[in-house]
Amino acid sequence: MDSVTPPSAVALHPVIVPLSYLLGTWRGQGEGGYPTINSFAYGEELHFSSNPGKPVIAYTQKTWKLNSGEPMHAESGYWRPKPDGTIEVVIAQSTGLVEVQVNYILSQLVGNASKVKEITRVFELVDGDLSYVVQMATNLTGIQPHLKALLKKL
Ligand code: HEM
Repeated sequence: MDSVTPPSAVALHPVIVPLSYLLGTWRGQGEGGYPTINSFAYGEELHFSSNPGKPVIAYTQKTWKLNSGEPMHAESGYWRPKPDGTIEVVIAQSTGLVEVQVNYILSQLVGNASKVKEITRVFELVDGDLSYVVQMATNLTGIQPHLKALLKKL
């Protein structure tokens, strides 16, 4: 067998099949804010992919200023379905912060962060569109919304 050719004929891993609607590219826009900052609008693209046979989804995100297109925050990581039915999400952010979410909702670990103490992320499918709300707690502020967005599958 030619070992440099990816095994594209292999099917998705069974644990990925229920999440396969995520696979591909999503684009949309969001609004950010927090009690300590000015609110802002942003464009966003998410990409989810899975190598055939592997029980993991690779995730990348990039954002930009809606008015100028100037790049803003970016992050990437892995969504890892666990045998107990939960999903562990590990994310590295462009700000240096690292995050591990349990059942893709509540942070189990926030590391290398000077201000952030906790992050929650709630994703929802609404009529085929992907919406999410990200909340965070900092050293000065209890858990409050920071981001919400709505994205369409391309
Ligand atoms: C501000 C964390 C995602 C844009 C902040 C602050 C923190 C933070 C701690 C400072 C708040 C303060 O000073 O009290 C996070 C975390 C994120 C995230 C944990 C992901 C889970 C994003 C994304 C964008 C963004 C995706 C852009 C689309 C901003 C902006 C500010 C800010 C524009 C205000 C900066 C300033 O006024 O100096 N964020 N952020 N953040 N964040 Fe985020």
